[in-house]
Amino acid sequence: MNPLPKHVAIIMDGNGRWSKKRLMPRNVGHLMGASNLRNVVKACIEKDIRHLTVFAFSTENWRRPPEEVATLFDLFVRYLKSEIVDLQKQGIRLKVIGDHSAFPKELQDQIDLACALTAQGEVLTLTVAINYGGKWDILQAMQAWQRAHPYESLEQLGQDQLTPYLSTYPLPEPDLLIRTGGESRLSNFLIWQAAYTELYFTDLLWPDFDAKALQDALDSYSLRIRRFGKTDEQVKSSSKLDAEKEKTR
Ligand code: FPP
Repeated sequence: MNPLPKHVAIIMDGNGRWSKKRLMPRNVGHLMGASNLRNVVKACIEKDIRHLTVFAFSTENWRRPPEEVATLFDLFVRYLKSEIVDLQKQGIRLKVIGDHSAFPKELQDQIDLACALTAQGEVLTLTVAINYGGKWDILQAMQAWQRAHPYESLEQLGQDQLTPYLSTYPLPEPDLLIRTGGESRLSNFLIWQAAYTELYFTDLLWPDFDAKALQDALDSYSLRIRRFGKTDEQVKSSSKLDAEKEKTR
């Protein structure tokens, strides 16, 4: 059985459908989604998960109607403002990833403040991806590497050297990626970092994804065999070795 994942990533999908089912405007679904994020963060802490990364707004979400985009940005500002004290109290370190250059100034300032004020949190790192895209992340990492190594050519860039320039650094790669809302794709989320991540898809809409649903995802993860390219025999003998090491500790 796999140990508990250190890093869980979530694509929080289905807010719109949640409100449509209830004949309510889409922003109600987003509000319920924001409220559910609080519950899931709490459940992760209770289950001793150290890192949670959530997809709040993709580089493609700009294609939504401008009123919905404005509502979402307003919600992010209000969420950050209202959560800072609670995040600090719970020992949560907030990290926001994505291209912030196009954000309204108020959101940029609020992000900087919330990240600075929670920087000492050691219980859980909550990373919120806003205006994030995996392709953007890979490209910005390569550009940052090139700026840091102006006299080297891209031929000298190896996979491991790129890691410190990815926006998720120094987080470990996600062990488990959950997507709610019934779709089975990554939609440009953490595409580099999720190369060996276990994927879990559920039909539950994000506002309905509760602690029990999280436990179901963790149970499914615990039964996965993570080979990382090795054979079954190699995996078995290395987990035997790990178990023996654990006994002699
Ligand atoms: C997906 O629902 C959700 C989003 C586009 C992002 C918004 C996420 C939240 C508001 C959750 C809280 C996050 C923070 C940081 C406060 P959808 O609109 O794509 O749903 P649909 O597929 O049913 O239309």
